[in-house]
Amino acid sequence: MDNHMIAVVGAGTMGHGISQVAAQHGYEVLMWDAAPGVVERAIGIIGDRLAKQVAAGKLPESERQQTLKRLVPVTRWDDLASASLAIEAVLEVMEVKKEVFQELDRVLPADALLATNTSSLSITEIAKVTRRPGQVLGMHFFNPAPVMKLVELVRGEETRDDVVQRAETFAHSIGKETVVVQKDTPGFIVNRVLMPLFIEAMRILEEGIASAEDIDKAVKLGLNHPMGPLTLADLTGLDVDLHVMDYLYDEFHDDRFAAPMVLRRLVRAGHYGRKTGRGFYRYS
Ligand code: 3HC
Repeated sequence: MDNHMIAVVGAGTMGHGISQVAAQHGYEVLMWDAAPGVVERAIGIIGDRLAKQVAAGKLPESERQQTLKRLVPVTRWDDLASASLAIEAVLEVMEVKKEVFQELDRVLPADALLATNTSSLSITEIAKVTRRPGQVLGMHFFNPAPVMKLVELVRGEETRDDVVQRAETFAHSIGKETVVVQKDTPGFIVNRVLMPLFIEAMRILEEGIASAEDIDKAVKLGLNHPMGPLTLADLTGLDVDLHVMDYLYDEFHDDRFAAPMVLRRLVRAGHYGRKTGRGFYRYS
């Protein structure tokens, strides 16, 4: 990016993961969250994670300190006025995203890019609330963002070619690989492939065909996936997974994306997976 200053809006799991990677690659990151204390907590988590790498001899302490210095908590929208790129990672609720994009459009410089980390929502619809729909695109990172190599770059209907190129250059500068999703389509590439895998694993569990442990073991060892689908669903967050499935189902009207009851029941009970300590598995 032009001035090495970016904004990350939303400091939950994805927001702080993205902030960490950008800061480790030399960007100053202005971090904003609607809820008080969330940014400070996120910076604490990043500090702890980097401390583990220092203890393991993988990172010099000086680099840890420098990375943390580049993470700047901000509280007002106007504090984001110097950023040349904003990456939004707030709740997957269209109305919330639209409010955020209106504010970003108001405060960021005219040539700045506005990106959303949405995992499935329409880029075009989000872009429409701004005066610069050509400069809005999806930059979809994967969990855990500091580790996962891919960023899906998603074009909205109006996204300009040079904007996709600038986003690609930025993603490469923070050590990521990119793919371009040429059409704004629900679930893009990865979630469109992943959700039917999650759903089938959950149905196998629901039908009593195998235990959660054996379903995961089968996929891990039989397909060489790093994690089984139920463990991965717990990691990505069952609330997020259900939201993505319901959105894909509404958009495509296709049973491939119909969420299983076992998932809906867990989400209704507040069991969102790893982040709440319980999902298909229990975590201490
Ligand atoms: N945050 C930051 N770093 C993490 C991390 C986290 N949550 N979890 C693990 N790591 C780091 C570790 O520190 C370690 O780093 P090091 O090599 O420098 O020491 C490295 O990752 C490997 O970790 P571990 O040795 O503890 O464990 P594994 O080798 O089992 O790797 C994993 C963990 C990287 C999470 C691996 O199991 C994996 O790749 N799982 C699949 C993840 C995946 O598919 N994610 C995509 C989800 S889909 C999505 O996000 C889309 C959304 O829209 C739904």
